[in-house]
Amino acid sequence: IADISEEIDHELISKDQIEHKIAEVARQVSDDYRGGDLLLVGVLKGAVNTMVNVAMNLSIPADMDFMSLSSYGSGTVSTGTVSIRQDLTTDVKGRRVLIVEDIVDSGHTLDWLVKELEGRGAASVDVFVLLEKPARREVAVDVRYKGFEIPDEFVVGFGLDYDERFRNLDSIAVLRPEVYQGEEA
Ligand code: PRP
Ligand code: MN
Ligand code: MG
Repeated sequence: IADISEEIDHELISKDQIEHKIAEVARQVSDDYRGGDLLLVGVLKGAVNTMVNVAMNLSIPADMDFMSLSSYGSGTVSTGTVSIRQDLTTDVKGRRVLIVEDIVDSGHTLDWLVKELEGRGAASVDVFVLLEKPARREVAVDVRYKGFEIPDEFVVGFGLDYDERFRNLDSIAVLRPEVYQGEEA
């Protein structure tokens, strides 16, 4: 991983650990939704890797759609305002939706999206997140399926970016604070 960038401090969760955890949680999802409807809603861009891994590890059929949301802009701190960069093409009315996200940090993105999809008439809305950073929570989010709890460090990789960079790392890594220092008050 040091080969990829000297801006990376260390690896936090390996590719193997991530894949094992997602496979384990996906088994639970398969059990819970067996015999019923399931629409996976991946939140672009960060959730792209998690979405693919969850979907491939399910043993039941699932539809897949994507919504592109942004709350961070180019910084490391949530703006608290969520904007739709690109909407779903699926009507969620009456559907059983499982939102797939890379991380819940302040909680604003998921809080907004759960309410939005409920407002569109989904029959149920549940949440799968790969990473949870409890220290930063500003709004409560009911997360049914969770991968890892992580400390309050800025992480990148496996879909997560800093200013659009590092999304293609195959593991989760901690960014050197010098990279973004001075930005946070
Ligand atoms: C990041 C991340 C989550 C959200 C979590 O997305 O992928 O979607 O922030 O933060 P929150 O709990 O504080 O809302 P971002 O807005 O950076 O867009 P991206 O997925 O395209 O990187
Ligand atoms: Mn995101
Ligand atoms: Mg981002």
